[in-house]
Amino acid sequence: MFTLIAAMDENRLIGTGRGGLPWSGITRDKQHFRDYTAGKSLLIGRRTFEEMRGWFRREDRPIVMTRNPDYDPGGHCRVAGDLDDVLALAADSDGEEIVVCGGAELYRLTLPFADRLVLTLLHADFPAREGGVFFPEWENEDFVELRREDFAADNQASPSMTFLYLARRAGSEHADC
Ligand SMILES: NC(=O)c1ccc[n+]([C@@H]2O[C@H](COP(=O)([O-])OP(=O)(O)OC[C@H]3O[C@@H](n4cnc5c(N)ncnc54)[C@H](OP(=O)(O)O)[C@@H]3O)[C@@H](O)[C@H]2O)c1
Repeated sequence: MFTLIAAMDENRLIGTGRGGLPWSGITRDKQHFRDYTAGKSLLIGRRTFEEMRGWFRREDRPIVMTRNPDYDPGGHCRVAGDLDDVLALAADSDGEEIVVCGGAELYRLTLPFADRLVLTLLHADFPAREGGVFFPEWENEDFVELRREDFAADNQASPSMTFLYLARRAGSEHADC
């Protein structure tokens, strides 16, 4: 089962065009990411992985996606060259849920197979610096809302936001890997 977890603004902006997030220090969202991903198999694009070095804990199970067969992520991280590799690695570690942590290329690759979306919707409009990178558009009718949690703005750096949990609607079959 693939779950995509992402934080985006009102334009589905998720990153700047030169790497990095368009915002900084949104503690509530960071904690939400930690809580949701703890102990699960995490699938991460090589560029995002390099931004997140140092973030992963011993109990996290990152799988780095890259086309470079010689890529060495170090530590306890594993490497996958395609989605078949990912499924094989996740099965080895009893991980039923594979949480896709971005970035944009990985979201585009896996959205057709997604069973769940765990989205932080930031109620703000951040500048798309250097072009920006975006979460792909999803079909609302393909997903059913399981739950939402709304939060008021904490301060200027942390806008009001919604944690939205969507599951693929029965009858809306996703693609097979
Ligand atoms: N707001 C959020 O929730 C969030 C979450 C994560 C990331 N981000 C942002 O997203 C941006 C990065 O996204 P990105 O799209 O540039 O990069 P990315 O998706 O993180 O990584 C892209 C890399 O993944 C590998 N890859 C992609 N498709 C592949 C495939 N089909 N098979 C094998 N390997 C594949 C390639 O690695 P190689 O080049 O090594 O072959 C590719 O260069 C950053 O700005 C980051 O901050 C935002």
